[in-house]
Amino acid sequence: MGQEVSAVPETTKPENLSERSLPAVADYIKSGKARKVVVLTGAGISTAAGIPDFRSPETGLYANLAALELEEPEDVFSLPFFKENPKPFYVLAKDLYPGKFHPTISHVFISLLATKGLLYQLFTQNIDCLERAAGVPADLIVEAHGSFASQRCIDCKTPYADDKMREHVSRAEVPHCEKCNGLVKPDIVFFHENLPSLFFDRRHMAEEADLILVLGTSLTVHPFAGLPDLAPFEVPRVLFNMERVGSLGSQPDDVLVLGDCDTGVRQLANALGWGEELEAEWRKLVGDEEADRQLEGSSKRQVELHDEVSQLVHDVDKVLHVHDVSSSGSSSPSPEAVAEKEPITATQPEVQQSESASVKESVETTTLTEEVKVSGA
Ligand code: OAD
Repeated sequence: MGQEVSAVPETTKPENLSERSLPAVADYIKSGKARKVVVLTGAGISTAAGIPDFRSPETGLYANLAALELEEPEDVFSLPFFKENPKPFYVLAKDLYPGKFHPTISHVFISLLATKGLLYQLFTQNIDCLERAAGVPADLIVEAHGSFASQRCIDCKTPYADDKMREHVSRAEVPHCEKCNGLVKPDIVFFHENLPSLFFDRRHMAEEADLILVLGTSLTVHPFAGLPDLAPFEVPRVLFNMERVGSLGSQPDDVLVLGDCDTGVRQLANALGWGEELEAEWRKLVGDEEADRQLEGSSKRQVELHDEVSQLVHDVDKVLHVHDVSSSGSSSPSPEAVAEKEPITATQPEVQQSESASVKESVETTTLTEEVKVSGA
């Protein structure tokens, strides 16, 4: 595994790795040259846990929401839309709220890196808190897009109690501030909101990395998407993803491990001699039943994810129409009519294959932005 569809000519030798392959990455780690491993994760790392990602064509949340009467599927995560109609977000929150999902073996691999003293920093775009659940120490995690771990009023910023939040979310009800009656929102970064200051305080750690591991992300959302390009050119970067993304695969020490990230991570762990330890840690954490469920054939998992995302989209559609009717009095097609539009699919947005230098500039943006158009892209 490794080196598939690399843009680097085969004759170009890597500088730090003996070759562009997972065994070579394992040798690099075992040699002690990788003491500052920076890990970058996205929604693909949690799909085996049963959480849909955003942009996969069949099972992604946005790809499916695109069938609804939203201007943009991303609207559900935008502040102007939330202020106007917070209900669709809370319908999604009910299903995506932490607590009902279990870490994947990829999450536990990151925790193992920390146990072995190799994890320099984890930057995650995920809001599912599964890295914490896997045991990655909190001080080694930057939740770049926030998380469900806390919440506050969007107007007066007064924090809102966890237990009350849990109650509201479990009923998909919109919580209101007890002080000013403003809308309460989890501390998740919506589009065009600023990322947490911790992201900017720590992004230099990607420049200092001696190994970058990228797992399960389309690298379409900035400034996060620029992180892999902050590392010096000769630093090995390994992509564990279904597809090639960003500038990964364009540098001599890039290794592409295309396919299911849990499979790739297992292969790296085996090459490191950590395979049994990783498997045992993971099973201890999630239990055999959940481990076996996650290990079921990927086609069965795809069907489960598809069913889950279809149900979610149906629920969002219902509240969108309730809102339409109550706010405009206009008649809209029934939820059933829209739900019957089969199949609910959309094309995946084209990934920007940006030049590294341009993407580097995009990491300077402070607000969450999708697919920043950068020169040379
Ligand atoms: P995306 O849905 O954009 O990308 C997920 C990537 O993971 C895709 O390239 C998939 O092909 C890949 N993938 C899915 N399952 C996988 C698996 N089991 N193994 C390997 N790869 C897999 O998700 P993100 O890149 O995380 O922001 O999206 C970034 C941001 O966009 C999110 O944080 C979210 C969204 O808007 C907010 O909500 C604030």
